[in-house]
Amino acid sequence: MIQLSKILKSVPIFHTLGKESIDFIIQRLKFKTFGPNETVCKIGDPGDEMYIIINGKVKICIYDDQGNEKIVATLQAGDYFGEMALLTGEPRSASVITTEESEMFALHKNDFDVILEKFPSISISIGKIMSQRLRETLAK
Ligand code: CMP
Repeated sequence: MIQLSKILKSVPIFHTLGKESIDFIIQRLKFKTFGPNETVCKIGDPGDEMYIIINGKVKICIYDDQGNEKIVATLQAGDYFGEMALLTGEPRSASVITTEESEMFALHKNDFDVILEKFPSISISIGKIMSQRLRETLAK
């Protein structure tokens, strides 16, 4: 538990939270491992989990009409993804594919909703990061 709370505290969206809050979140996380080149989220699918990367890397991919892949971002340890479908109720906006062996925490939508309501600072961080991601994508 001590090790887990250290890992979680190092994730930027949880930086400001205290020990009790971190423990509350840890109890709701599911540890998952993925091999290289595994699809964690598929564009267009419904989504009921978001993911926090503990180790490893993923690429965020969209596709043109011919099915050619365009990588819009790469994410690594401390980053998260899959929050958009949870916030909007819409299908996955991109595919998320591991580029190496990766370890993640998955958080189910029901717990995500409870956590955002209990810790509004996380919603603010997620909003800021979403704006940065949009800005980076538009600059490409
Ligand atoms: P979601 O739409 O649920 O599933 C795909 C995820 O990819 C999405 O949530 C975001 O977490 C992530 N994503 C989509 N677009 C970008 C982007 N431009 N930069 C970083 N991550 C993104």
